[in-house]
Amino acid sequence: MNSRDSEHLIAELSIKENYSLTTEITDADLIIINTCSVREKPVAKLFSELGVFAKYKKDSAKIGVCGCTASHLGKEIIRKAPVVDFVLGARNVSKITQVLHQKHAVEVDTDNDDSSFDFSEYRTNPFRAMVNISMGCDKSCTFCIVPATRGEEISIPSELIVSEIQKAVATGAKEIMLLGQNVNNYGRRFSSESEVKDFTGLLKKISLMDGLERIRFTSPHPLHMDDEFIEEFASNPKICKQIHVPLQSGSTKVLREMKRGYTKEWFINRCELIRRLAPSATISTDIIVGFPNESEEDFKETMSVLDSVRFEQLFSFKYSSRPHTAAAEYDNQIDNDISGERLTRLQSRHTEILDEVMDTQLGSVHEVYFDELKSEGRVSGRSDDGKLVFVKGSEELLGHIVQVKIEKVSRSLLEGIVI
Ligand code: 5AD
Ligand code: SF4
Repeated sequence: MNSRDSEHLIAELSIKENYSLTTEITDADLIIINTCSVREKPVAKLFSELGVFAKYKKDSAKIGVCGCTASHLGKEIIRKAPVVDFVLGARNVSKITQVLHQKHAVEVDTDNDDSSFDFSEYRTNPFRAMVNISMGCDKSCTFCIVPATRGEEISIPSELIVSEIQKAVATGAKEIMLLGQNVNNYGRRFSSESEVKDFTGLLKKISLMDGLERIRFTSPHPLHMDDEFIEEFASNPKICKQIHVPLQSGSTKVLREMKRGYTKEWFINRCELIRRLAPSATISTDIIVGFPNESEEDFKETMSVLDSVRFEQLFSFKYSSRPHTAAAEYDNQIDNDISGERLTRLQSRHTEILDEVMDTQLGSVHEVYFDELKSEGRVSGRSDDGKLVFVKGSEELLGHIVQVKIEKVSRSLLEGIVI
């Protein structure tokens, strides 16, 4: 979400205000930090980075703080770091050209209408386009600050999504990534009329579009993975066989305290259905360890889900207490050493699983969509199931979907030859 917000900021500033990107901080007339606040660490990093930027920037250069930390700290940022010229919340990206001209402007409201989806064009990668389908989140997972920073969930009318995709396809994108905090809750609330009102329907509609060959999406919520959705995921050839199913915890007791709305059994059942209907699909997940009151037994339940689903990719975190969340008030916050030890156990078990999974890739053939030039005469792309693949080659491969035979495997990427 933040990457796409950054593209919107760049688009608005370059088209309406004539800015261009620079890699040299000493050349910059405007420095924008687009922040995350999901865990505490990036918030602390913001203030140390502001100190560095203040030291090296031109005297006349402005500094703006955008994103979720801007939303939840608001004017506090300017109080703590007066070098900051403006603060722009995650939901207010479309106001960038306004706040730019108001000293110490703070825009952090979470209201919305269709005008806040309307941006100028800019894409970091023309071959692979990110497209927002909803903003905000209506869930209240007790660890998560996002509903407070990004506001209530609102879906973007399907006609606007389709026209956004048409523009991306016209400029060379064969693949799109649909973005939302909770994509499969699409259709809950709109700011104006929409033809399609559910996520499965949206996938069906988008997959009819000419020139678009691959559809990915992130993140779906396990609670809303009904059979119809999984069947569409499995049977629609344009939908890439890669799916993120965020577990958070394998203990039904902890899941209840997190207010996730599903049990361990439901989660495993959904993953089993995905594995059965789409055997080539890779499943990734997010896991939090050390949630308040998590016992050794609870943690072992998480380990058991890891062993039964055998996720191809794992994003794992120590629980971080956040303001505006219910869990911050819970008793029995877990000692940092215990969380650290659980995280290490979880990650080492996952590394073993990953090594076994990747070993099976040797000699396999993947359809790879090449989208990036790399050093040493190589290009990289993604297989349908989301694996990073490198081959020797040049720009002629960019923008093409080509069959590749895998000759070398490692934990994070595959290397092969075009066949
Ligand atoms: N502490 C640790 N991890 C968190 N996440 C969200 N909130 C927290 C928190 N307070 C993780 C979840 C989510 C991912 C984006 O970040 O696993 O799925
Ligand atoms: Fe946060 Fe839960 Fe919403 Fe995801 S679904 S953004 S974890 S509140």
